[in-house]
Amino acid sequence: MARNKIALIGAGMIGGTLAHLVGMKELGDVVLFDIAEGMPKGKALDLAQSAPVEGFDARLKGTSDYADIAGADVCIVTAGVPRKPGMSRDDLLGINLKVMKAVGEGIKAHAPNAFVICITNPLDAMVWALREFSGLPANKVVGMAGVLDSARFRHFLAEEFNVSVEDVTAFVLGGHGDTMVPVVEYSTVAGIPVPDLIKMGWSTQEKIDAIVARTRSGGGEIVGLLGNGSAYYAPASSAIAMADSYLKDKRRLLPCAAFLSGEYGVKDLYVGVPIIIGANGVEKIVEIELKGEAKANFDVSVNAVKELMDACRNLDSSLK
Ligand code: APR
Repeated sequence: MARNKIALIGAGMIGGTLAHLVGMKELGDVVLFDIAEGMPKGKALDLAQSAPVEGFDARLKGTSDYADIAGADVCIVTAGVPRKPGMSRDDLLGINLKVMKAVGEGIKAHAPNAFVICITNPLDAMVWALREFSGLPANKVVGMAGVLDSARFRHFLAEEFNVSVEDVTAFVLGGHGDTMVPVVEYSTVAGIPVPDLIKMGWSTQEKIDAIVARTRSGGGEIVGLLGNGSAYYAPASSAIAMADSYLKDKRRLLPCAAFLSGEYGVKDLYVGVPIIIGANGVEKIVEIELKGEAKANFDVSVNAVKELMDACRNLDSSLK
């Protein structure tokens, strides 16, 4: 059986990390695409030379020609510019919208059957624009944000409770911005909800509130520390979890930016919700009951995404 083909559109920090993970996990052959000429070829060669040491078999190709992504099973899009200190994800809108147009047209022409995972920020607006420009069905185009935001939440919770990250499950829903919604009631240690753990004296409401706040600004904290660019290890791992669920038809239930058609009372936009990813892409959008503050935060988040979509429409009249 032929190997899967994974096209990475954008061969920067996240793109290179994605390629390494695809190789190490033997998920398939890799095409690293970038507008920069030599860089993707250099990264592909460097990565290919790690294969004999690590013991993985994969063809890795760097390119600036969209024809090379032909027949890709999965496309992971990181093309664009990342944040600099002091910038919000939304500040990236103008530049990255133009990039999504070029990428969407490239995917439409050369890999229309791929499962597409968008990482480029501001995420919820960019994945929507990418779907519009590519014309692919909405079940085949998703955004990576919730897995990453939830991983940040899980990491902080595991530290607080002094337990393995493996046993901490957590959900972060809503838009991938300051209005994201870490849902404490649905976050657990081996099935024990966080509110119960507070009652059991494992933590305090104040400490959990601080963790929620740190999760919300988790990307900005890293941007500030790096001083040049944004996070790339955890974003790459998160997108690989989504690609893996698709390629192996695992039907994992993961929080992702998905196109809503009435679910959660929301229509015609992308926002972070729990979905099942399987061989058909988005197999199911899971509607959990959001109450009180979580519901209010989710609504604020949806409105923030709507504002960004309107800003995109003002910049590009082909977007409806
Ligand atoms: N087509 C293809 N690649 C492009 C294009 C384009 N039109 N425009 C820019 N690129 C490439 C750049 O040449 C660069 O190599 O996208 C790559 C982006 O890589 P980095 O600058 O290293 O950014 P990275 O850290 O990988 O983040 C990429 O993900 O998390 C988001 O906010 C982040 O939007 C940013 C994206």
